[in-house]
Amino acid sequence: MTTFVSRALTAAALALGVTLTAAAQAQQVKPTLYKRIGGYDALAAVLDDFVPRLVTDPLVGKYFVGAGKDTQMHIRQMALDFFCNITGGPCLYIGRPMKTAHTGLGINEAEWDAGVRHFQATLDKFKVPQPEREELVAAVARLKTDIVEKK
Ligand code: HEM
Repeated sequence: MTTFVSRALTAAALALGVTLTAAAQAQQVKPTLYKRIGGYDALAAVLDDFVPRLVTDPLVGKYFVGAGKDTQMHIRQMALDFFCNITGGPCLYIGRPMKTAHTGLGINEAEWDAGVRHFQATLDKFKVPQPEREELVAAVARLKTDIVEKK
């Protein structure tokens, strides 16, 4: 009886062990979003396209009036490290939290939508594949409540 129970337990543990190992392996082989979109250089290209779109946009360009090239590059670099960080890359984001960086600017819903359209246009330009595109757009959507201010 004891032998039977212990054999059954061992078999169950082995089966569970195999299942867990397979799940763990599956998780390990799924590359991060960061890797799937092409890593740091790909993200840098995205920001180098996206930031100038914002800066020159007729609706939201006003937020960057007075921001010289260096300030724009600072924002670009911070945003690059931010995206690197949230997509699972090896970067530490040392900029201000999204809410802190944008509070007081008064970015409204329509301006936010313009920003999202530019982001999507950038993803179109680089032909980011649909699954990665959806993850990036969802990640940006999560920032809305920190960036848009209710009047
Ligand atoms: C995709 C969503 C966005 C992300 C990830 C993002 C990210 C950032 C980051 C990382 C910074 C720099 C923070 C720091 O210096 O510590 C920043 C600053 C800034 N962002 Fe955004 N941003 C987004 C959308 C927008 C939009 C839609 C606008 C304008 C309508 C905007 C306007 C600004 C401005 C004006 C600054 C400079 C603030 C200052 O230092 O005075 N951002 N953003």
